[in-house]
Amino acid sequence: MKKIMLIIIAAFGILGLTGCGNTQTSDSVSSDNRTSQSATQHTDSAEEVTDEDKSDTDNSDKTSIPETISETEEISDSTEKGTLVVYFSATGTTKGVAEGIASVTNADLYEIIPAEPYSSDDLDWHDNNSRTSIEMNDPDTRPEIASDTVSLDGYSTIYIGYPIWWGDAPRIMSTFVESYNFDNITVIPFCTSGSSGIGSSGDNLKDLANSGNWLSGDRLDANISESEIQDWINDLN
Ligand SMILES: Cc1cc2nc3c(=O)[nH]c(=O)nc-3n(C[C@H](O)[C@H](O)[C@H](O)COP(=O)(O)O)c2cc1C
Repeated sequence: MKKIMLIIIAAFGILGLTGCGNTQTSDSVSSDNRTSQSATQHTDSAEEVTDEDKSDTDNSDKTSIPETISETEEISDSTEKGTLVVYFSATGTTKGVAEGIASVTNADLYEIIPAEPYSSDDLDWHDNNSRTSIEMNDPDTRPEIASDTVSLDGYSTIYIGYPIWWGDAPRIMSTFVESYNFDNITVIPFCTSGSSGIGSSGDNLKDLANSGNWLSGDRLDANISESEIQDWINDLN
Protein backbone atom coordinates (compact mmCIF):
# COMPACT_ATOMS: atom_id res chain seq x y z
CA MET A 1 0.00 0.00 0.00
CA LYS A 2 2.84 2.29 0.98
CA LYS A 3 4.45 1.53 -2.37
CA ILE A 4 1.27 2.50 -4.22
CA MET A 5 1.06 5.77 -2.28
CA LEU A 6 4.71 6.56 -3.04
CA ILE A 7 4.14 5.90 -6.76
CA ILE A 8 1.07 8.20 -6.79
CA ILE A 9 3.02 11.00 -4.94
CA ALA A 10 5.94 10.57 -7.31
CA ALA A 11 3.60 10.76 -10.32
CA PHE A 12 2.05 14.10 -9.01
CA GLY A 13 5.56 15.40 -8.37
CA ILE A 14 6.60 14.77 -12.00
CA LEU A 15 3.35 16.29 -13.34
CA GLY A 16 3.88 19.29 -11.07
CA LEU A 17 7.42 19.87 -12.38
CA THR A 18 6.30 19.57 -15.99
CA GLY A 19 3.57 22.19 -15.32
CA CYS A 20 6.13 24.61 -13.91
CA GLY A 21 8.27 24.14 -16.98
CA ASN A 22 5.37 25.09 -19.28
CA THR A 23 4.59 28.11 -17.13
CA GLN A 24 8.17 29.34 -17.39
CA THR A 25 8.09 28.90 -21.19
CA SER A 26 4.83 30.79 -21.39
CA ASP A 27 6.22 33.54 -19.20
CA SER A 28 9.24 33.73 -21.42
CA VAL A 29 7.09 34.14 -24.58
CA SER A 30 4.94 36.65 -22.87
CA SER A 31 8.10 38.54 -21.88
CA ASP A 32 9.25 38.45 -25.52
CA ASN A 33 5.87 39.83 -26.56
CA ARG A 34 6.21 42.65 -24.06
CA THR A 35 9.61 43.43 -25.45
CA SER A 36 8.17 43.38 -28.93
CA GLN A 37 5.18 45.49 -27.87
CA SER A 38 7.47 47.87 -26.13
CA ALA A 39 9.52 48.19 -29.32
CA THR A 40 6.33 48.79 -31.30
CA GLN A 41 5.21 51.33 -28.79
CA HIS A 42 8.60 52.95 -29.05
CA THR A 43 8.25 52.93 -32.79
CA ASP A 44 4.77 54.42 -32.46
CA SER A 45 6.12 56.91 -30.05
CA ALA A 46 9.01 57.61 -32.40
CA GLU A 47 6.49 58.00 -35.21
CA GLU A 48 4.51 60.33 -32.99
CA VAL A 49 7.66 62.31 -32.30
CA THR A 50 8.36 62.28 -36.00
CA ASP A 51 4.82 63.47 -36.65
CA GLU A 52 5.25 66.12 -34.00
CA ASP A 53 8.53 67.02 -35.57
CA LYS A 54 6.77 67.25 -38.91
CA SER A 55 4.09 69.29 -37.30
CA ASP A 56 6.78 71.43 -35.65
CA THR A 57 8.48 71.73 -39.00
CA ASP A 58 5.15 72.61 -40.57
CA ASN A 59 4.57 75.16 -37.84
CA SER A 60 8.07 76.55 -38.18
CA ASP A 61 7.49 76.76 -41.90
CA LYS A 62 4.26 78.61 -41.27
CA THR A 63 5.80 80.92 -38.69
CA SER A 64 8.81 81.54 -40.91
CA ILE A 65 6.63 82.94 -43.70
CA PRO A 66 5.80 86.25 -42.04
CA GLU A 67 9.39 86.50 -40.78
CA THR A 68 10.60 86.12 -44.34
CA ILE A 69 8.13 88.74 -45.52
CA SER A 70 9.17 91.17 -42.83
CA GLU A 71 12.83 90.49 -43.63
CA THR A 72 12.06 91.22 -47.25
CA GLU A 73 10.31 94.41 -46.24
CA GLU A 74 13.33 95.44 -44.18
CA ILE A 75 15.62 94.73 -47.12
CA SER A 76 13.43 96.70 -49.49
CA ASP A 77 13.33 99.55 -46.95
CA SER A 78 17.09 99.55 -46.60
CA THR A 79 17.60 99.48 -50.34
CA GLU A 80 15.15 102.29 -51.03
CA LYS A 81 17.18 104.84 -53.00
CA GLY A 82 17.31 108.47 -52.16
CA THR A 83 18.90 111.66 -53.40
CA LEU A 84 21.75 113.61 -51.84
CA VAL A 85 22.88 117.14 -52.66
CA VAL A 86 26.54 117.72 -51.84
CA TYR A 87 27.94 121.24 -52.15
CA PHE A 88 30.82 123.54 -51.35
CA SER A 89 30.15 127.26 -51.23
CA ALA A 90 32.66 129.92 -50.20
CA THR A 91 30.33 132.90 -50.33
CA GLY A 92 26.81 131.37 -50.26
CA THR A 93 25.76 131.41 -53.93
CA THR A 94 26.14 127.68 -54.57
CA LYS A 95 24.59 126.98 -51.17
CA GLY A 96 21.36 128.71 -52.22
CA VAL A 97 21.15 126.71 -55.46
CA ALA A 98 21.94 123.46 -53.61
CA GLU A 99 19.12 124.13 -51.16
CA GLY A 100 16.76 124.75 -54.08
CA ILE A 101 17.69 121.40 -55.67
CA ALA A 102 17.26 119.62 -52.31
CA SER A 103 13.84 121.20 -51.89
CA VAL A 104 12.68 120.18 -55.37
CA THR A 105 14.04 116.63 -55.14
CA ASN A 106 13.28 116.09 -51.44
CA ALA A 107 16.97 115.30 -51.02
CA ASP A 108 19.35 115.27 -48.09
CA LEU A 109 21.96 118.05 -47.98
CA TYR A 110 25.66 117.67 -47.21
CA GLU A 111 27.93 120.70 -47.03
CA ILE A 112 31.64 120.35 -47.67
CA ILE A 113 33.17 122.58 -45.00
CA PRO A 114 36.88 123.37 -45.33
CA ALA A 115 39.02 122.64 -42.27
CA GLU A 116 40.51 126.09 -42.90
CA PRO A 117 37.72 128.50 -43.92
CA TYR A 118 38.40 130.76 -46.92
CA SER A 119 38.84 134.40 -45.94
CA SER A 120 38.16 137.25 -48.39
CA ASP A 121 41.92 137.55 -48.85
CA ASP A 122 42.04 133.84 -49.68
CA LEU A 123 39.36 134.37 -52.35
CA ASP A 124 41.11 137.33 -54.01
CA TRP A 125 41.64 136.15 -57.59
CA HIS A 126 43.42 139.42 -58.42
CA ASP A 127 46.25 138.35 -56.15
CA ASN A 128 48.48 135.70 -57.70
CA ASN A 129 49.69 134.79 -54.23
CA SER A 130 46.27 134.38 -52.62
CA ARG A 131 45.42 130.99 -51.20
CA THR A 132 42.94 130.21 -53.98
CA SER A 133 45.40 131.30 -56.68
CA ILE A 134 48.07 129.02 -55.22
CA GLU A 135 45.63 126.10 -54.82
CA MET A 136 44.23 126.42 -58.33
CA ASN A 137 47.75 126.61 -59.81
CA ASP A 138 48.55 123.23 -58.24
CA PRO A 139 46.25 120.40 -59.40
CA ASP A 140 47.61 118.14 -56.63
CA THR A 141 46.47 120.38 -53.78
CA ARG A 142 43.86 118.66 -51.57
CA PRO A 143 42.41 121.08 -48.98
CA GLU A 144 41.20 119.21 -45.91
CA ILE A 145 37.46 118.75 -45.25
CA ALA A 146 36.20 119.46 -41.71
CA SER A 147 32.65 118.07 -42.14
CA ASP A 148 31.90 114.60 -40.82
CA THR A 149 32.06 111.98 -43.55
CA VAL A 150 28.73 111.09 -45.12
CA SER A 151 27.59 107.54 -45.92
CA LEU A 152 26.52 107.26 -49.54
CA ASP A 153 24.63 104.00 -48.81
CA GLY A 154 21.06 104.23 -50.02
CA TYR A 155 21.64 107.12 -52.41
CA SER A 156 21.07 106.46 -56.11
CA THR A 157 21.48 110.10 -57.21
CA ILE A 158 23.94 112.69 -55.97
CA TYR A 159 24.06 116.31 -57.13
CA ILE A 160 27.50 117.83 -56.57
CA GLY A 161 27.72 121.62 -56.58
CA TYR A 162 30.60 124.12 -56.40
CA PRO A 163 31.65 127.59 -57.58
CA ILE A 164 33.87 127.87 -60.63
CA TRP A 165 37.35 129.02 -59.71
CA TRP A 166 39.63 129.83 -62.59
CA GLY A 167 37.49 127.75 -64.93
CA ASP A 168 37.57 124.62 -62.73
CA ALA A 169 36.09 123.12 -59.55
CA PRO A 170 37.83 124.20 -56.32
CA ARG A 171 40.47 121.70 -55.21
CA ILE A 172 38.45 120.79 -52.15
CA MET A 173 36.01 119.12 -54.56
CA SER A 174 38.89 116.87 -55.63
CA THR A 175 39.41 115.99 -51.96
CA PHE A 176 35.75 115.04 -51.73
CA VAL A 177 35.34 112.93 -54.86
CA GLU A 178 38.56 111.03 -54.19
CA SER A 179 37.30 110.11 -50.71
CA TYR A 180 34.15 108.26 -51.80
CA ASN A 181 32.98 105.38 -53.95
CA PHE A 182 30.16 106.33 -56.32
CA ASP A 183 29.46 102.86 -57.71
CA ASN A 184 25.78 102.47 -58.71
CA ILE A 185 25.18 106.17 -58.16
CA THR A 186 24.23 108.75 -60.79
CA VAL A 187 26.33 111.85 -60.13
CA ILE A 188 25.16 115.22 -61.48
CA PRO A 189 27.60 118.12 -61.21
CA PHE A 190 26.33 121.69 -61.06
CA CYS A 191 28.12 124.96 -60.55
CA THR A 192 27.63 128.68 -60.11
CA SER A 193 29.97 131.31 -61.50
CA GLY A 194 30.33 134.91 -62.58
CA SER A 195 29.76 133.92 -66.19
CA SER A 196 31.84 130.83 -67.06
CA GLY A 197 30.13 127.61 -67.98
CA ILE A 198 30.78 124.31 -66.21
CA GLY A 199 33.43 123.53 -68.86
CA SER A 200 35.41 120.38 -68.14
CA SER A 201 35.13 120.72 -64.35
CA GLY A 202 32.57 117.91 -64.05
CA ASP A 203 34.62 115.59 -66.26
CA ASN A 204 37.73 116.37 -64.22
CA LEU A 205 35.91 115.36 -61.03
CA LYS A 206 34.59 112.25 -62.74
CA ASP A 207 38.14 111.21 -63.63
CA LEU A 208 39.31 111.75 -60.06
CA ALA A 209 36.34 109.84 -58.60
CA ASN A 210 36.88 106.93 -60.97
CA SER A 211 33.47 105.48 -60.04
CA GLY A 212 29.81 106.29 -60.58
CA ASN A 213 27.64 107.20 -63.53
CA TRP A 214 28.45 110.85 -64.11
CA LEU A 215 26.25 113.16 -66.18
CA SER A 216 27.83 116.19 -67.83
CA GLY A 217 26.12 118.66 -65.49
CA ASP A 218 25.43 122.39 -65.91
CA ARG A 219 26.05 125.88 -64.64
CA LEU A 220 22.95 127.10 -62.81
CA ASP A 221 22.02 130.74 -62.30
CA ALA A 222 22.43 132.09 -58.76
CA ASN A 223 18.77 133.14 -58.75
CA ILE A 224 17.32 130.00 -60.33
CA SER A 225 13.72 129.30 -59.24
CA GLU A 226 12.42 125.93 -58.09
CA SER A 227 10.31 125.51 -61.24
CA GLU A 228 13.43 126.21 -63.34
CA ILE A 229 15.32 123.63 -61.27
CA GLN A 230 12.52 121.15 -61.95
CA ASP A 231 12.72 121.88 -65.70
CA TRP A 232 16.51 121.41 -65.58
CA ILE A 233 16.11 118.03 -63.84
CA ASN A 234 13.47 116.95 -66.36
CA ASP A 235 15.88 117.79 -69.19
CA LEU A 236 18.87 115.99 -67.64
CA ASN A 237 18.28 112.70 -69.36
C1 LIG B 1 39.13 132.49 -56.65
C2 LIG B 1 37.92 132.67 -57.51
C3 LIG B 1 38.01 132.39 -58.87
C4 LIG B 1 36.90 132.56 -59.68
N1 LIG B 1 36.97 132.22 -60.98
C5 LIG B 1 35.90 132.38 -61.80
C6 LIG B 1 35.95 132.03 -63.15
O1 LIG B 1 36.96 131.52 -63.66
N2 LIG B 1 34.86 132.24 -63.92
C7 LIG B 1 33.71 132.81 -63.41
O2 LIG B 1 32.76 132.98 -64.14
N3 LIG B 1 33.63 133.10 -62.09
C8 LIG B 1 34.68 132.91 -61.28
N4 LIG B 1 34.60 133.23 -59.95
C9 LIG B 1 33.32 133.69 -59.41
C10 LIG B 1 32.59 132.57 -58.69
O3 LIG B 1 32.54 131.40 -59.47
C11 LIG B 1 31.15 132.96 -58.37
O4 LIG B 1 31.13 134.14 -57.65
C12 LIG B 1 30.43 131.86 -57.61
O5 LIG B 1 29.05 131.97 -57.83
C13 LIG B 1 30.71 131.91 -56.14
O6 LIG B 1 30.03 130.80 -55.52
P1 LIG B 1 29.97 130.66 -53.95
O7 LIG B 1 29.30 131.89 -53.37
O8 LIG B 1 29.13 129.48 -53.71
O9 LIG B 1 31.35 130.50 -53.44
C14 LIG B 1 35.70 133.07 -59.13
C15 LIG B 1 35.63 133.36 -57.78
C16 LIG B 1 36.75 133.19 -56.98
C17 LIG B 1 36.66 133.49 -55.52
